[in-house]
Amino acid sequence: MPSSLMSSTQKSSTSTPEKDLLQEQAAAMNRMYRWTRHVYDLSRKYYLLGRDKMLDGMDVNAGDQVLEVGCGTGRNLIRLAARCPQADFKGLDIAEVMIEQAGVSVRKNQLESHVELVCSPAEALFDTQIFPETEVFDTIYFSYSLSMIPTWEQALEAAWSRLKPGGELHVVDFWDQSGWPKWFAGLLTKWLSLFGVHFREELLEKLKSWDVEGKCRLEISSICRNYAYHARLKSVSESMQIANIQDSSDS
Ligand SMILES: C[S@@+](CC[C@H](N)C(=O)[O-])C[C@H]1O[C@@H](n2cnc3c(N)ncnc32)[C@H](O)[C@@H]1O
Repeated sequence: MPSSLMSSTQKSSTSTPEKDLLQEQAAAMNRMYRWTRHVYDLSRKYYLLGRDKMLDGMDVNAGDQVLEVGCGTGRNLIRLAARCPQADFKGLDIAEVMIEQAGVSVRKNQLESHVELVCSPAEALFDTQIFPETEVFDTIYFSYSLSMIPTWEQALEAAWSRLKPGGELHVVDFWDQSGWPKWFAGLLTKWLSLFGVHFREELLEKLKSWDVEGKCRLEISSICRNYAYHARLKSVSESMQIANIQDSSDS
């Protein structure tokens, strides 16, 4: 298994609150998925809505580098890699059991040559000793993973730091259920929280603030009456920024 922050934190004798938190999260995810990973793809098909629409709408071209953060069993990577055989894919997940499961599926689909799997927390994408500085991506996505990550802000920023100028970051995840009856929304929220899954209003606020700051162009679309959302962020490249400045000075 490739080196990762998890393996380095596990071996390390020094402990910090951040490392402790990540180790707790890794242990929790390994416990949660140790057995359920075998029925994961079958069961999640019915309630992790919007994944395929997001994947099918991604602009992935030959030679592109694509990263999924929190890749789970690898089902999304396999779907994308089958569609775009000339791109390179990386899947990162904090749970060793999920990376093992993804490895089985990748081999079964004979995609080893262009799908790489790494057991690591998303937050480690900040660490250039683990992921070299040159490792940057054209497309990065989180599919139903940010709602499970307590340190979602670091995970999101770490992923953003790996996006090429002009690249795209996508998030598909649970929304506020505002288009559904209150009883349904309440039940779903309670049920999801049993699994450590939380809709985070602050996350969408953060994405909107990036758009306001001119860091990206953001589009948010609703899936099934706000059951879930798909956020698409196009990173603003330097040339686009210069063009924007010129536009505003012209007017
Ligand atoms: C609900 S699953 C989604 C899996 C997959 N993306 C999908 O759409 O089927 C969430 C995944 O996020 C992973 N995860 C949780 N915390 C993480 C972290 N800090 N860094 C990376 N992966 C994490 C879990 O281990 C789990 O595999």
